[in-house]
Amino acid sequence: MDLFAGKDVLKSPYLDLLLGADPRPEAVYKYMQLCQALCDVRNGALTGICAYGPASDFDGLETYNLSVAPAFRRSGIGSRLLQRMLELEKGPIRVRTGSTSFAALSLYQKLGFRMKSIVSDYFTNHYAEPIIENGIQLRDQIVLELKDRSSGHLFGN
Ligand SMILES: CC(C)(COP(=O)(O)OP(=O)(O)OC[C@H]1O[C@@H](n2cnc3c(N)ncnc32)[C@H](O)[C@@H]1OP(=O)(O)O)[C@@H](O)C(=O)NCCC(=O)NCCS
Repeated sequence: MDLFAGKDVLKSPYLDLLLGADPRPEAVYKYMQLCQALCDVRNGALTGICAYGPASDFDGLETYNLSVAPAFRRSGIGSRLLQRMLELEKGPIRVRTGSTSFAALSLYQKLGFRMKSIVSDYFTNHYAEPIIENGIQLRDQIVLELKDRSSGHLFGN
């Protein structure tokens, strides 16, 4: 797993993967200026990326983007990227995801993240096009936070 400065991965294939999880190029360019990016590479192919940096609204870190290439999903790459970030960084960490992003909600909670708040209508107010995920229109954003590093089911595996 390699660690890069966020502004060094604003190019293919990293950028394609980042936009796969967050289809707002202007937002991705903005937060990546302050982020670091952990990248997983297998046989020369980029399989996953996790971008994190100072949180916008509290004294801690935020995971801004977590994306695994479709062909490599459900093989533990997303978990390993997050676990590596948690090994490298101390203190509380937040993440924002969609209320219909069931894979991400499951992954974060297995690692011990707890739900902190809901931003109602975030996706309908901030995205030009409707997002349909798991057959449901995505409207609300869930904010999760990890404070206690010992509580995740995936730790110690
Ligand atoms: C969410 C995402 C990063 C997960 O990465 P991954 O490498 O496939 O995840 P892992 O293999 O490490 O899975 C860990 C756990 O997450 C959950 N999970 C992952 N994919 C899932 C799915 N399709 N359905 C339900 N749960 C899922 C499971 O709890 C899984 O544990 P298990 O395999 O023991 O059941 C990946 O699906 C992805 O890139 N999705 C699109 C972008 C996205 O939603 N990013 C997060 C936005 S904040």
